[in-house]
Amino acid sequence: MGRKSIVLCGFMGCGKSTIGSLLARKMGMAFVDMDSYIEKKEGKSVSEIFAQSGEEHFRMLEREAAKELAGKKGLVIATGGGTLTFRENVDTLRKSGSIVLLDLPVEAVEERLKYDTTRPLLARPDKSEVIRELYNKRLPLYREAADISVDASNSPMQVCMEIMSEL
Ligand code: S3P
Repeated sequence: MGRKSIVLCGFMGCGKSTIGSLLARKMGMAFVDMDSYIEKKEGKSVSEIFAQSGEEHFRMLEREAAKELAGKKGLVIATGGGTLTFRENVDTLRKSGSIVLLDLPVEAVEERLKYDTTRPLLARPDKSEVIRELYNKRLPLYREAADISVDASNSPMQVCMEIMSEL
């Protein structure tokens, strides 16, 4: 039996990639960022995939990536903000390890994403409303998916320590 993976979940901007890479280093585990994994495989950025092939196609690539990564052991996986809003991905990734929600209030999410231009779902003039609407829809799904939840308002190091003590 190999080591279980740690799967980080939460809204865009909650720190999944930053905390994931730090946590992996501290735990001596390999880190995989799902968006980067998909980008590398496709040779395109997430924005390019959305623009050229649409969100549905991206979700299919995301589903495939979840299955591939769930087949490996001992990873710290940073999911995309939409990944664990789909039941199928929750079922897939839960088999490989523990799902950790990085919980961040919507006000902090908005602040962190204010100048972001890399998220295709937020590339709109009504960004603030889109964030709030998506956030409210997704938070209950994240909570349902997660085995544990940590306060992501703290520093990345503090968040890592909390995850390690809770797991
Ligand atoms: C998405 C979040 C992004 C990326 C894609 C879609 C979402 O990941 O997967 O733009 O649906 O919330 P991050 O949470 O890393 O920004």
